[in-house]
Amino acid sequence: MQEKIDNIIERVKTEILNASNKQELIQINAKYLGKSGELSLLMRGLKDLSPAEKPKMGAILNQARDQVLALVRQKEEVLNDQELAQRINNEHVDITMPVKPLQVGTLHPIEIIQRDLIEYFVSQGFSVMDGREVETDYYCFEALNVPKDHPARDAQDTFYFDAEKLLRVHTSATQIKTMESRTPPIKMISTGRVYRVDEVDATHSPMFNQFEILVVDENVTMSDLKGMLENLAKHLFGEKTQIRLRPSYFPFTEPSIEVDATCTHCGGKGCPVCKQTGFIELLGAGMVHPNVLKNCKIDPNKYMGFAAGLGLDRIAMIKYGINDIRDLYDGDVNFLKQFR
Ligand code: PHE
Repeated sequence: MQEKIDNIIERVKTEILNASNKQELIQINAKYLGKSGELSLLMRGLKDLSPAEKPKMGAILNQARDQVLALVRQKEEVLNDQELAQRINNEHVDITMPVKPLQVGTLHPIEIIQRDLIEYFVSQGFSVMDGREVETDYYCFEALNVPKDHPARDAQDTFYFDAEKLLRVHTSATQIKTMESRTPPIKMISTGRVYRVDEVDATHSPMFNQFEILVVDENVTMSDLKGMLENLAKHLFGEKTQIRLRPSYFPFTEPSIEVDATCTHCGGKGCPVCKQTGFIELLGAGMVHPNVLKNCKIDPNKYMGFAAGLGLDRIAMIKYGINDIRDLYDGDVNFLKQFR
């Protein structure tokens, strides 16, 4: 019997030595100490021994069982330590490794100009008004002194959803909404996408971004408008920038002007950017037409106003030297991330 037990212990020792994971250890444990394990079977056989042999054999078997248990536990601890060491090794962070550069997005050039202008005007007491891209014929044209048969509509054709609803051709629609909902003095700006039927080329897009400015108060004059425009041009393109006013026509302003700024590229001397004229077209503006004030129930004998609308795409192109408007809309991240 003793021999048999010694043999078992020997086998347990080698098997445990060779065990490389907990699963194997559990199997060894079951093989010897489980329900029908070798040692368990021997213990169960005790009952058939003579009363004289029983205690002796019992003691030997108990000792053997304790020994096997101790061996299994010992190995379990070794395996636990190994597992922990391996985990620590795997999860080890090398703090000396170079960091991956963080990809920080940049603002779209139009967004940069838009935010800058909003800040510029808000700091002067202007309110920012929200408009809609889907507008009605009334707010886009009628109320702005452009009746249905007016030839000015030809130059501003757009997408019509039905006889009334259309994609707005300018942010000027928001002028009307503001004058309807507020009483003078009014100082407002509004910005967003506008739509016009156009062939796409380097300088034309059927969708672009406008920035609208409106001031209505008593004693507002053309020289106020001119001063505002001069400051605006300097803000956008630098202190040396000068402006030039040309007579123009918009149904909703009278008089109407087209505003040019000295070329940012050559400073006014003449170069390919300004087609040798020394000037670049900046925006359209004028004194609010009395009919427009009347349409908004503002007394034109008491109040006057000026308005201006500029294309943010144009400003972005001039400011950043972008030659093709399509670059603004292609969504090429490599191109767009140059602008900050
Ligand atoms: N709405 C005009 C346009 O789209 C611009 C403009 C705005 C002109 C305000 C005068 C006054 O061209």
